[in-house]
Amino acid sequence: MLILGIESSCDETAAAVIEDGVRARSNIVASQVATHRPYGGVVPELASREHLRNIGPIVKEAIAQAGVELKDIDALAATQGPGLIGSLLVGICYAKSLALVFDRTLLGINHIEGHIYSTVFENPPVEYPALALVVSGGHTSLFLVPAPLEYRLIGRTRDDAAGEAYDKVAKLLGLGYPGGPILDRLAQTGDGRSFQFSIPRMSDGTGDFSFSGLKTAVVRCVKKGLISPTTTPDSPGPEIANLAASFQRTVVRTLRQRVEQAIDRYDPKTLIVAGGVACNSALRQEMKELGAERAVPVHLPSPIFTTDNAAMIAAAAYPRLLRGEATDWTFTAESTMSLQNLQVEDTRNEKRLRYRSS
Ligand code: KG4
Ligand code: ZN
Repeated sequence: MLILGIESSCDETAAAVIEDGVRARSNIVASQVATHRPYGGVVPELASREHLRNIGPIVKEAIAQAGVELKDIDALAATQGPGLIGSLLVGICYAKSLALVFDRTLLGINHIEGHIYSTVFENPPVEYPALALVVSGGHTSLFLVPAPLEYRLIGRTRDDAAGEAYDKVAKLLGLGYPGGPILDRLAQTGDGRSFQFSIPRMSDGTGDFSFSGLKTAVVRCVKKGLISPTTTPDSPGPEIANLAASFQRTVVRTLRQRVEQAIDRYDPKTLIVAGGVACNSALRQEMKELGAERAVPVHLPSPIFTTDNAAMIAAAAYPRLLRGEATDWTFTAESTMSLQNLQVEDTRNEKRLRYRSS
């Protein structure tokens, strides 16, 4: 079965053709980083316009690289949410038009579920129950996946997503955008113990994450004059490298702690780590070590499938198509779409809370 996936939830216009759910015949991504770099973050209006410009050529390229024609595609999948509404609408409208013209099934896919499926191309089949940590610029969520397509949210960020913290701290230090790859590279030359940042503890005992305190701690370092933003981002110097390493060490330790608690509690057979921050060298290393210690196989995507892409969207559609899900022609973009209207589990007293949006 050939599925054409389209992803346009944020600042990447992407299209991919996937065969039988696990083989990427093509995976094309047009990044808008250069457009948004001068602003230090994504400007929604500019993102929508650029998606509109890119979507046609990107889909054409994905089809050509897969060595097929549009008529050979069996079904389509487009990101429905969460994301920027104007950006999502471009991909959805384009996918709806193709599905209508070629009379094919089209599924709207949750972007976070897409990230969870980004590991299927390079790993053995997932064994259930699984744990899935999705860490990106917009999300930091930990899910228990008891069975395929069933998700229970067991931890989520209360404030900033991990990638967002990377981006904000890099901006604060004058290092540029996006901050994740820059700080990751710098951290490799710094001493992670030179700045002492604490791991946040949730006062209500839940397994949630919080990264804004860490960002504020970095702000305090700047205000106290312990560190100065660089004016030479290409060679920021050893102090900033030390800060980058200390920041990264704290982010990674925070994520590890929550995942470790969840392993103890749920005894998963697979640990999936996905989302843009899963590119991070220290996080990958830490999760592999944790998996080895606890004898839990760790599924990580390689960098091309880690940041936003359409292969993961098509891959997530595959099991749904096999299950017979059909097009709902009225579906539209949902900027705060949650995964299956999930519920957050309060790990302290088992009380279950309604989860509204990420
Ligand atoms: O998944 P993604 O492409 O978009 C969202 O769905 O948000 O993730 C983008 C995020 C950005 O915040 C970026 O700084 C972060 O992923 N990122 C990294 C690394 N590469 C990308 N964060 C830490 N280390 C990296 N190597
Ligand atoms: Zn993403």
